[in-house]
Amino acid sequence: MKTAVIGAGAMGSLIGAHLADGGNEVTLVDVWKEHVDEINEKGLRIEKGSEEKTVCLKAVNDSSVLGPQDLVIIFVKSYHTENAVKSAANLFTEDTVVLTLQNGLGNAEMISRAAGNVEIVAGTTSHGATVLGPGFIRHAGAGETIIGKFDGENTPRVEEVSSEFNRCGLETKISDNIAGLVWGKLLVNVGINPLTAICGVYNGELNEFESTQKLMEMAVGEAEKVAAAKGIELPYTDALEKVKGVARATGPNRSSMLQDVERGRRTEIDYINGAIAAEGNKLGVDTPANQVITLLIKALEEKKEKEKNVKSSS
Ligand code: PAF
Repeated sequence: MKTAVIGAGAMGSLIGAHLADGGNEVTLVDVWKEHVDEINEKGLRIEKGSEEKTVCLKAVNDSSVLGPQDLVIIFVKSYHTENAVKSAANLFTEDTVVLTLQNGLGNAEMISRAAGNVEIVAGTTSHGATVLGPGFIRHAGAGETIIGKFDGENTPRVEEVSSEFNRCGLETKISDNIAGLVWGKLLVNVGINPLTAICGVYNGELNEFESTQKLMEMAVGEAEKVAAAKGIELPYTDALEKVKGVARATGPNRSSMLQDVERGRRTEIDYINGAIAAEGNKLGVDTPANQVITLLIKALEEKKEKEKNVKSSS
């Protein structure tokens, strides 16, 4: 499958490398020049436990140099989705499948608005991965990927993507409840990401403290009520237990939002807890915990921005 992965952070690089290793013609697209140069010169290094391997694949800074693709995987941060898809218009034909496995709410809808007539497949993945440096990632833990058609019934092309992922060592299933899956992952991010970022703790530590457990219960409880008001069928029955279970299973991980805050990058808060507050507002469901948590993350973003400005003007 001729594949472009737009957004070669840890997860985009990991999925792209598996597909390339399985013999697909894969190109990673990312604005990070050092990462792209390193991958082209030396390949992508992947550390997993005590082992390390290098996968050879192509990377570019700008998707305009590529032609039409069979599969385009979007892995940019949610706030870049619309622009990234618009500027990749040359990659799409009516036979192209566009797949999003991003965190947060609204990515498939943004892709649908920006990409025009393509087949959109959405899903979730529970692999854990971190960028260690240019051209170097850590695969912290293998997990399941679940995909399905965003708008309508699954098609043979969803089957094709799923079987190619499985053939390339990415355990993948198909679901016909994609909204439920996306919301299911959203609730996990609602309960874990901002609390790890605000408190500066590993995922597993959230289960250790009384205060973080209470905050998690409040944020996830509100999100569960919003999901119910929207008629979403979550893929589990006890949301809080699910989120605690993921925090335990990914205990040594630093969540993506904690990594963003530490690096002074914008976070995806508007598409996670902010999205819960916005949906709650539309549906008449109160979400005070999610509103406060969203503002606390924004305060951290503003503080980091101020520090950067002070540094660059001194
Ligand atoms: O965003 C993340 O970091 C991940 O989705 C998760 C599941 C919270 C694990 O760190």
